Amino acid sequence: MKRVFSGIQPSGDIHLGNYLGAIRNWVLLLDQYDCIFCIVDYHAQTIPYDPQAMPRRVMNAAVANMAAGIDPKRCRLFVQSHVKEVTELAWILGCVTPLGDLERMTQFKSKTQEHQLGSNLGLLAYPVLMAADILLYKAELVPVGDDQIQHLELAREICRKFDSTFGPVFPEPQPLLTKTSRVMGIDGKTKMSKSLNNTIGLLETEEQVWSKLKVAVTDENRKRRTDPGNPLVCNVFTIHQGFTQDSQIAQIDKECRSAGIGCVDCKKILARNLEAVMAPMRERARHLESPPDEVRQILDEGASACREIAVRVMDEVRVATGLRDARRQQ
Ligand code: TRP
Repeated sequence: MKRVFSGIQPSGDIHLGNYLGAIRNWVLLLDQYDCIFCIVDYHAQTIPYDPQAMPRRVMNAAVANMAAGIDPKRCRLFVQSHVKEVTELAWILGCVTPLGDLERMTQFKSKTQEHQLGSNLGLLAYPVLMAADILLYKAELVPVGDDQIQHLELAREICRKFDSTFGPVFPEPQPLLTKTSRVMGIDGKTKMSKSLNNTIGLLETEEQVWSKLKVAVTDENRKRRTDPGNPLVCNVFTIHQGFTQDSQIAQIDKECRSAGIGCVDCKKILARNLEAVMAPMRERARHLESPPDEVRQILDEGASACREIAVRVMDEVRVATGLRDARRQQ
């Protein structure tokens, strides 16, 4: 089985955008590949954060992912900083990464502006750490959203550069492009994102979901109930695609275009379908959280399994780069 690796930001609450754009696709990979999923707390340190809140964020990310179907019995789920070898590999890979490549990354440029940090080295080196994540486990396939494709391309380049200089050690990782839908926030305009405060959380209650859905922007050209709507420009319709059966979607499409149903009706149908998926997730999350050590234990087991791979690969890297003399014991 080919190995798949992907990283999850511990960025507060997991929302519908994360679910439809990533997690739901990962669940489909569990039985086809040897999957490793990593909660990337080192990456989360590249922008200002509250250290007191970090452990909770990591736990929430673990619980939400497991509740959404990332079954730790069928993959490895672990916390990035629990396998410290990744920092050593990031250092070594950094030494074969051209500075110019890092400086032209769009995420580096936008985050530098957004957080007005000037430049900090962590933010600049972010893609090197990401390359280290992937290569440390010799992953061959990496499912990523379109915002991370540039980073993955750079990781592939770093891999080639390392292998041509010191290798061969690593297989060149390939992107695993899965069907994703780009879900906007409830403002209907910008990508659903925690920092933009426009999300619907995956573990929110029915009431919380409705309070947000109620005010979610639809087709802005549809001013009156009697106006026909255009589903293609409606974010509520986009979310329907993730939670509603095809036959019902076809009907909504038709009745929206002919003003047969209004936006409130359409949202009510969506609320019902969301609840059908989300109620069992909340239930699973509650179970996972009730003995609080259980999640921790799952993450510990994930880390031990990953550490075993990491130690072996780092030994190879140390020999290849001359940090360890192959003719001597350790
Ligand atoms: N940078 C990714 C994101 O923000 C998370 C990530 C970290 C990742 N390491 C990775 C994704 C390795 C894929 C592979 O979404």
